Amino acid sequence: MSIRRITVVGGGNGAHTLGALGAVRGFEVKIWAPITQEAESLKQGVAEMGGIEVLLNNGSRVLGRPQIITDDPSQAIPGSQLIIFVLPAFAHKDLLLKMAPYLDQESIVGAMPSRSGFEFMSRSIIKPPVGIFGLQTLPWACRIREYGKQVEVLGTKNQVSAAADPSQKAHDIFETLELLLGLEIIPTPNMLTISLGNVGQIVHPGIMYGLFRQWNGKPFPAEEIPLFYQGVTGEISGILDGLSREVISVKETIEEKCALDLSGVVSLQEWLLTSYQDSIEDKTSLQSSFNTNKGYKGLKAPVRTVGEGKYIPDFASRYLTEDVPYGLIVTRALAQLARISVPVMDEVITAVSRWMGREYLSKGELCGRDLLHTPIPQNYGIKDLTALKRAIE
Ligand code: NAI
Repeated sequence: MSIRRITVVGGGNGAHTLGALGAVRGFEVKIWAPITQEAESLKQGVAEMGGIEVLLNNGSRVLGRPQIITDDPSQAIPGSQLIIFVLPAFAHKDLLLKMAPYLDQESIVGAMPSRSGFEFMSRSIIKPPVGIFGLQTLPWACRIREYGKQVEVLGTKNQVSAAADPSQKAHDIFETLELLLGLEIIPTPNMLTISLGNVGQIVHPGIMYGLFRQWNGKPFPAEEIPLFYQGVTGEISGILDGLSREVISVKETIEEKCALDLSGVVSLQEWLLTSYQDSIEDKTSLQSSFNTNKGYKGLKAPVRTVGEGKYIPDFASRYLTEDVPYGLIVTRALAQLARISVPVMDEVITAVSRWMGREYLSKGELCGRDLLHTPIPQNYGIKDLTALKRAIE
C-alpha cells in the first residue's frame, strides 16, 4: 500500500518539524493542532511565511507547507492513511477518543514517541483492522524558534526502533516512516518491546530521585541548580543500574513464560553506548557514560522560580509527569503480572509520586488512587501473563 496522506497531531516542536518535513518529502500533510489557539497561530504563521521553515542541524534549511491546519478532527482525520501523534503521552487518550469516529478502516495510528502502555490504551479505543504503531523516541531534538514559522533541529537520530500491530502492516508502515523521517527504522516484533524498552522511564525519574532525595525543601540560587546528566554520581548511577536490572528481569521473565521475543529491550548501559557511540568520551562505567556524553553537556535539572534568583525542583516536569505514569508505572504493573519484586522501582516511585502529589503505590501495593489514569495492562482487563500474551501477539 502506498501511503501518501498523513495527519500530524500536535502543535509543538515535533509537530512543526514533522509537518514541514513531511510536506518537503512529498506527503500530503494535514496538521490537527487540538488546541484552537495553536491551530490559529499555526495557520497565521504558515500563511505569512509560506510554510514552516526547518533549520536542519547540517546547516541547511527547508520550507514545507502543510495543506490543512485545523483544530477539528472531522477535517483532519477522514481520508488520512497515517495519523501520527507528536505530543506528550498524557494527551494521547483524550485525542484518540476524539478522533476515533472519523477513522477509516484502513487507517494507521501511531505515536512518536509512544511511551509505555500505548498499545493497551489505544487498543481499548481503536480496534483492528485499524493499525497502530509506536516509535521509541522522537527522532529529533527540536525547538520552535517562531510559532508557526520556524523550527530548529538541534540533533537527529540515525535509527529509531519501532513496532506495529497487526504485524502484517509493519512493512508498509516502517517503509513510509523511513521516507517521511529520513532515517532507519529498527523493526521490533511487538509493541511491548517499545513499552519495556522506554529508556526515559529509567533515566528521568531515576536521576530526579537521585538528585533531589536529600533536598531540604529550601529554595536554592541559580548556581546551585544541578546539572542533570553530568550530575550523575556513583550513588545515582547505582539507582539507574538497579532500575535497569529490574526492567531486564521483567523482560526475561515475560520472555520465558510467554514465549515472546523481547530481545530489543536492552540494559541502560547498552542503550547508551549504542545511541551515543560517538559522543561518549569515557565509556568505562554507567556514571562516566552519562558524565562525558557531549550530547548531554550543560543540561540542567528542571527547576522553577519562587522569587528572584530562587529556585526549587520542578516536580511538574515531564521527566516525572510523562515518564512515571506512562513509563515506570507500566513496567511496575508488568512486574506484578510476572510476579517479580522490584524494590528499587518501588523506592523511586514512592518518592517521586509523593513529590508529584500522586498515589500509584499504597503500602507497597499497586493500588494507589491515581492508577486509574495510567495505561497499565490491568486497567484494560489484562490480569495475568496468559492475557498479556494474547493481547501482545
Ligand atoms: P511540545 O511541548 O512542543 O508540544 C506540546 C504540544 O502538545 C502542545 O503544543 C499541544 O499541541 C499538545 N498538547 C499538550 N498537552 C495537551 C493536551 N492536554 N491536550 C491536547 N494537546 C496537548 O512537545 P514536543 O517537544 O513536540 O515533544 C513531543 C513529544 O516528544 C513529547 O513526548 C516529548 O517528551 C518528546 N520529545 C521531544 C523532544 C524535543 O526535542 N522536542 C526530544 C525527545 C522527546
